[in-house]
Amino acid sequence: MLQPICPVESRFGDAHNQAEFPLRALQFKRGLLHEFRKGNSSKEQVRLHDLVQQLPKAIIIGVRKGGTRALLEMLNLHPAVVKASQEIHFFDNDENYAKGIEWYRKKMPFSYPQQITIEKSPAYFITEEVPERIYKMNSSIKLLIIVREPTTRAISDYTQVLEGKERKNKTYYKFEKLAIDPNTCEVNTKYKAVRTSIYTKHLERWLKYFPIEQFHIVDGDRLITEPLPELQLVEKFLNLPPRISQYNLYFNATRGFYCLRFNIIFNKCLAGSKGRIHPEVDPSVITKLRKFFHPFNQKFYQITGRTLNWP
Ligand code: A3P
Repeated sequence: MLQPICPVESRFGDAHNQAEFPLRALQFKRGLLHEFRKGNSSKEQVRLHDLVQQLPKAIIIGVRKGGTRALLEMLNLHPAVVKASQEIHFFDNDENYAKGIEWYRKKMPFSYPQQITIEKSPAYFITEEVPERIYKMNSSIKLLIIVREPTTRAISDYTQVLEGKERKNKTYYKFEKLAIDPNTCEVNTKYKAVRTSIYTKHLERWLKYFPIEQFHIVDGDRLITEPLPELQLVEKFLNLPPRISQYNLYFNATRGFYCLRFNIIFNKCLAGSKGRIHPEVDPSVITKLRKFFHPFNQKFYQITGRTLNWP
């Protein structure tokens, strides 16, 4: 039952050559490395000598619930890309940051020198200290930001927190109560899920360190419905030869999302925690939020040069 809330007015140098990259699915590499360490090296495994842990050449810095996992996994389909599986939280977590850059490098997956490593930690986008810290590591790094329509993203963010509470048998506020200040009936900008969706505010902090050319905006809504063209734009931005094809992406009607096909044997969908059903939200609250985000969105389009068709 919906409660009435408030009255509302209703470049990495030259493009790589595919031949340089192993055709084998990258997932097998860890296993091969293990075999190699055990001394079961074959002619093919000798190449493992070349494996190194490299600092990332590109980072998916956010936005939380924008589709960061899907983007990372899909980019990992590219033979020249190797993903860091876990969110490393090096730049946003003071304790981790204090461990130094070698600690960070050692968290990276093994890759061949001609490949690039990519990690994703969506907390980077909204954490004050991160742009300066990344700049100090590599001032020419490429930065990927995947965004979704801000109100949908805020509800997705809320849904994740709600699920965590429910898992612990805790009750939680309704989205409407958190998103709208009951005293003023205005959008509650103290609510983190709302603040995170004001993309332009966060981006402006990053622009104090990096020129806009070092960012690429991924349309997270389009990545859901039509992933290939979004991925092709990223390949271009990263100066990678186009290698991800429609073969690598198939729609899984049961999941309601695209899943990944690495080769004839290996395919996978994202975990069930990706693509949750959102709770129903009072339409008047949605309208209010969309109106609130509108001017920030316009500014975001203007700064990034990418216009998204958000209401
Ligand atoms: P919802 O759970 O709100 O649907 P993140 O990885 O940044 O947490 O983003 C999660 C979102 O990725 C999900 O939000 C989902 O909509 C979106 N997503 C995009 N492509 C997806 C895919 N192929 N499979 C599952 N989720 C995908």
